[in-house]
Amino acid sequence: MKMWAGRFQKEEDKRVNDFNSSISFDMRMYKQDIAGSCAHAEMLGKCGIIPQEGVKKIHDGLQSVLNDIENGSLEFDMEAEDIHMFIEAELTARIGDAGKRLHTARSRNDQVALDIRMYLKDEINSIMPLVKELLGVLCDKASQHTNTVMPGYTHLQRAQPVTFAHHLMAYAQMFMRDIGRLEDTFDRMNELPLGSCALAGTTYPIDRFMTSELLGFKKPTSNSLDGVSDRDFCLELLSALSILMMHMSRFSEEIIAWCSWEFKFIELDDAFATGSSIMPQKKNPDIAELVRGKTGRVYGDLMNSLTMLKGISLAYNKDMQEDKEAVFDAVDTVKMCLTTFIPMIDTMKVLKDNMRNAAAKGFINATDCADYLTKKGVPFRDAYKITGELVAVCIEKNLTLETLPISDYKSKSDVFEGDIYSAISLETCVNARTSYGGPAPECTSKQIEEVREFLKK
Ligand code: ARG
Repeated sequence: MKMWAGRFQKEEDKRVNDFNSSISFDMRMYKQDIAGSCAHAEMLGKCGIIPQEGVKKIHDGLQSVLNDIENGSLEFDMEAEDIHMFIEAELTARIGDAGKRLHTARSRNDQVALDIRMYLKDEINSIMPLVKELLGVLCDKASQHTNTVMPGYTHLQRAQPVTFAHHLMAYAQMFMRDIGRLEDTFDRMNELPLGSCALAGTTYPIDRFMTSELLGFKKPTSNSLDGVSDRDFCLELLSALSILMMHMSRFSEEIIAWCSWEFKFIELDDAFATGSSIMPQKKNPDIAELVRGKTGRVYGDLMNSLTMLKGISLAYNKDMQEDKEAVFDAVDTVKMCLTTFIPMIDTMKVLKDNMRNAAAKGFINATDCADYLTKKGVPFRDAYKITGELVAVCIEKNLTLETLPISDYKSKSDVFEGDIYSAISLETCVNARTSYGGPAPECTSKQIEEVREFLKK
């Protein structure tokens, strides 16, 4: 029999209960539901709304429910409508009348809004250390490769020389912004909706500031209609997680390319790669591919939630029950991806020589050749044109700018001298790029230091 059965003449159809019930997925919020109820009861007692002796009974009763869930002796009833009903019913079965007072000045609408916020705050607190761990791994790897020259690309065409450290630290910047977004999300999520009640607050003399403090929130939400209707914090978290996944996905795409024979810039550790059932020679970057694939899934969770919310009037509507599976899936997926991605990056082998060889082809020092002329007074556009012609000569003669004879240089411009060769050596090209944020080893070392400082905070 449902708790709300009073005004109904008939039992609920079994199919309706199956369709309506959310316990199969909201049971994971049992801890938050119990903590929220304990604080609510304490506040009700202190405000004189329920008798003090009942508060102790509620508290002990909820503690025993919690213990029994955690030691496995109490199983969730899949016939229950949701985790909130389940716990309240279980409490009342254990302590009787005192349990029936718990739901005074509260509704499931503000209860569920509270539980999700508490649950997601905990999840953010477990995702952030993982992102920080990834940043630590990137710093360690990068510090070994500040002199490892590789081609930088635009349009996936070799463009200008960078270092592997510089490339890795680009990802570090992305993951630092991800942490910033998670912090911002946490901060806006950190308001207590409890006490909004069904939608219109309550006539009981409740103290929402007390409950807010008991549960570690910054403050209570300011409008009761908004308190129960707002799921922006789910959308914000889903957006932050989507962007985080997008970063991991771009990184994965590069890992996949770098593992191919066409690049061979890295080799994944055997423990973080997979084989083929038919082709004995294969070593596949499945983890990176799965991370890339699961990115679509997290975007889907965001789209799901945005679409679910776009047409619903104030305040609570049952559509909102759909918020949880999406955001839970995103959180689970991100944690799973990070947990495997981090050691994959940590254990990968960097094939420096292949990077260096790739950098030696593709005329990635052509800009530096033009800059050489410009620094000797030739206007950049003229220098650019001369260098383009030299590249054409190289292609025709199957040479590189490093191996092209000085006579060919001089035939295009008499400004060229023997020092052109040192000016366009890849090491010079990288080491001289000392502009703030550039790939010169001294600059990347500074970037690494800054990220390490950030991680210490
Ligand atoms: N299971 C519901 C949810 O997840 C709880 C809130 C139900 N409130 C209501 N008035 N039906 O959204």
